[in-house]
Amino acid sequence: MRMRYIAILTAVSGMFAATGLPAQDEDFDGVIRYRQGVMKAQAGHMAALSQIVRGHVPDPEHRLAELHARALVGLLEDLDHWFPEGSDFGETRAEARIWERWDDFHQAYEEAEDRAEALVKAVKKGESKAIAKAFKGLADACKACHKDFRAEEED
Ligand code: HEC
Repeated sequence: MRMRYIAILTAVSGMFAATGLPAQDEDFDGVIRYRQGVMKAQAGHMAALSQIVRGHVPDPEHRLAELHARALVGLLEDLDHWFPEGSDFGETRAEARIWERWDDFHQAYEEAEDRAEALVKAVKKGESKAIAKAFKGLADACKACHKDFRAEEED
């Protein structure tokens, strides 16, 4: 899937080069915005979940918690597709390190995905302490990847 995606991007860049339209940065603009949207969506689900975990939102059947946890699994799945090589230019905080240490990056997102799956399981069992622990585990996985692969915010 990833290879096919890159092949398409490469073909598209080739087309731009042939027509004299802007190259690289411009090509990745959409995918960069898309992945930032996916990240923001994840942050939204985590923010909502944190209120549920703290008991600020009634969720006796754990239906809301399950909805957010499942959405996170879905959004984290194949996260690496949205990081085509060379998309560290333009309006992005993705570090070039992502492609230099691609295996580590891959592992970081798989770890996050595993933890999101663990959260779904905990939610289904419905034991509050285990849910809180799984939630924190996932939040730590987000942070770990950001620490290694996301640039600091510019002022
Ligand atoms: C495998 C690495 C990785 C994982 C896991 C990950 N992120 Fe990210 N995240 C990134 C990178 C890299 C960027 C910068 C993307 C860019 O600017 O193009 C980013 C950007 C963001 C942003 C800023 C988006 C914007 O508007 O520019 C938020 C918010 C965010 N992540 C939240 C999360 C949350 C919440 C999780 C966990 C549920 C998570 N991320 C998991 C790597 C990761």
